Amino acid sequence: MADIEAYCEMEQDPDVRKFVGGYPRRREDAENRFLRGLEQPAVKMLSMWATILKTENRYIGRCGIYPNFNDAGQPIANEGTLAFYIAKAYWGNGFAKEAGRAFVNFGFNKLGLKRIVSTIQEGNDASARVVEKLGFSKTYTEPATQTNLRSFIHFELNNSITAHK
Ligand SMILES: CC(C)(COP(=O)(O)OP(=O)(O)OC[C@H]1O[C@@H](n2cnc3c(N)ncnc32)[C@H](O)[C@@H]1OP(=O)(O)O)[C@@H](O)C(=O)NCCC(=O)NCCS
Repeated sequence: MADIEAYCEMEQDPDVRKFVGGYPRRREDAENRFLRGLEQPAVKMLSMWATILKTENRYIGRCGIYPNFNDAGQPIANEGTLAFYIAKAYWGNGFAKEAGRAFVNFGFNKLGLKRIVSTIQEGNDASARVVEKLGFSKTYTEPATQTNLRSFIHFELNNSITAHK
C-alpha cells in the first residue's frame, strides 16, 4: 500500500500512458487497479514487480515478465512477456534497461524460460530501443485494425542465443 500514491501518479500521467493504453487513467480507476493487483497471486513468479530506486527507497515504476498468452488466452509454456513502466521524472537514466536485463537473466536462468517476447506500440521508440539493446529482435508488425487503431511491433529473445551478464 505504501506505493499507491506513486503508482496512481504514474497512471494519471498522459506521457507515461501515451503508448500503453493511450489515455491517462482517472484517479479512481488507477486506485482500483492497484488494489485489484494486490489481490492477485503472482503466477509462478511470472508477474510485474514494484521497481524501487535504492538511493531514494522510492517506487519509480513496475517491471517484470508476465505469461505470454496464445490466441486462446492460454499461457504458453516456457515463455514470458517482458514489460517496463518508469515514472517520467526518472526516464533517461538507464533504469528500464537495467531492470529489463535483470528480468531477462531471471527469466532464463531462474525461471527456465526458453523465449521472452515484448510487444511495443509503433512509435514507442524509447521502449523499442530498450529491448533492442537487450538483444531482442523484431519478429513482425501487427497492423492496426478497425477495432484496434494502434499497430504493434513484436520482439523476441531466445534463450539459446543470449549471454546476459
Ligand atoms: C519506455 C520506458 C520504460 C523507458 O524507460 P527509461 O528508464 O527512460 O529507459 P532507459 O533510460 O533504460 O533507455 C531508454 C533508451 O531509449 C532512448 N530514447 C529515449 N527516448 C527516445 C525516443 N523518443 N526515440 C528513440 N530513442 C529514445 C534513450 O536514449 C535510451 O537509449 P540509450 O541508452 O541508447 O541512450 C519509459 O519511457 C516509460 O516508462 N514509458 C511509458 C511506459 C511504456 O511505454 N512502457 C513500455 C511498454 S512496452
